[in-house]
Amino acid sequence: MQRLAIDLDERSYEILIGLDLRKQVGEFLKAVFRPSRVVIITHPSINSIYGEEVIANCLDQGWTTDIIEVPEGEVSKSLGQVEKLYDRLLELNCDRKSVLIALGGGVIGDLVGFVAATYQRGITFIQVPTTLLSQVDSSVGGKTGVNHPKGKNMIGAFYQPRLVVTDLQTLKTLPIKEYRAGLAEIVKYGVISDASFFEFLEKNYKDILNLNYDCLSYIIENSCAIKAKVVEKDERETHHRMILNFGHTLGHAIESLTGYSRFIHGEAVAIGMVRAAELSHSMGKCSKEVPRRLEALLKNLGLPVEMPELDPTAVIESLYHDKKTMDNKIKFILVKEIGSIEIVEQVPESEILKII
Ligand code: NAD
Ligand code: GLY
Repeated sequence: MQRLAIDLDERSYEILIGLDLRKQVGEFLKAVFRPSRVVIITHPSINSIYGEEVIANCLDQGWTTDIIEVPEGEVSKSLGQVEKLYDRLLELNCDRKSVLIALGGGVIGDLVGFVAATYQRGITFIQVPTTLLSQVDSSVGGKTGVNHPKGKNMIGAFYQPRLVVTDLQTLKTLPIKEYRAGLAEIVKYGVISDASFFEFLEKNYKDILNLNYDCLSYIIENSCAIKAKVVEKDERETHHRMILNFGHTLGHAIESLTGYSRFIHGEAVAIGMVRAAELSHSMGKCSKEVPRRLEALLKNLGLPVEMPELDPTAVIESLYHDKKTMDNKIKFILVKEIGSIEIVEQVPESEILKII
């Protein structure tokens, strides 16, 4: 098992990465916190595959443990769902020493983290991420929240988990499309801060697609380590943490303008990263080699790279509505070379129009 520490003073925690860890979640939790009771929150489909194993180990510790199911999909990241969860936690008499376990992907992690941040002014929660995206991104760093009809992730809190338990074997049951979407975020880490990691991905993409556990363990740990360093430096995203948004500026616009149905998040990020690299090249920040290598790697990993046909005016409009847009300036994360990037505070519309 790999252990990775996230150093955030009194909010520090560890990420445990390995095989079969879902069966030891209770033991791992006991080592960091003694709960009055435990509530696992998950989707029905994940409950049917992994719920029994997670609950068994919590019961073995002598804790009263319940499982609450919430429907799958982005629709569950809502204030209505949050309220339903508060109701259930109150019915179960959960107190300030109760612990929530988020068993699922980013939807469950973001929702449960927000409930934990706000129930009785904040209770302990741990993450047991089961999608690749949640294992390398959403379970780490403490962004929690839900959507508002006017925009994704508009309501939320920075609230760190007490522990992250990543079981590589859960990826075996993950649909391939979801798996590939997680790979897009892993490629992002190479681009933003680690050229040798990017080269590793280029050389080993077949093992990665074949779910080789040694390879997976390395790429997940390295991705989390890169994210941890960024979060340690700028937990509340005053500036530096924005680098994690490489490819997301256009990615969010693509997701929203295609109705959140044609591409899942990681796929839109893949397209957004290639466009951001093209923009970097056309603005003279990097050589042509950068977008070329990025596109080739993403294609090898089975991710889409072509910009869909969208009305350019609508794309620009959507960029102005991005959460990162301030003072009516479109901000972009541009790449200088693989492993090195720059936050550019204002990119002219004319430059963006050239690459979409
Ligand atoms: P998801 O949580 O919706 O999971 C995708 C699908 O896979 C779901 O249908 C789920 O039931 C299923 N699933 C999950 N694990 C499975 C497994 N092991 N086997 C079989 N099926 C499984 O999607 P996601 O991509 O993990 O997360 C997306 C969410 O994460 C978005 O809401 C996004 O805003 C959020 N996010 C948050 C952060 C953050 O820093 N907090 C970062 C990135 C994304
Ligand atoms: N997923 C981007 C962040 O955590 O900041």
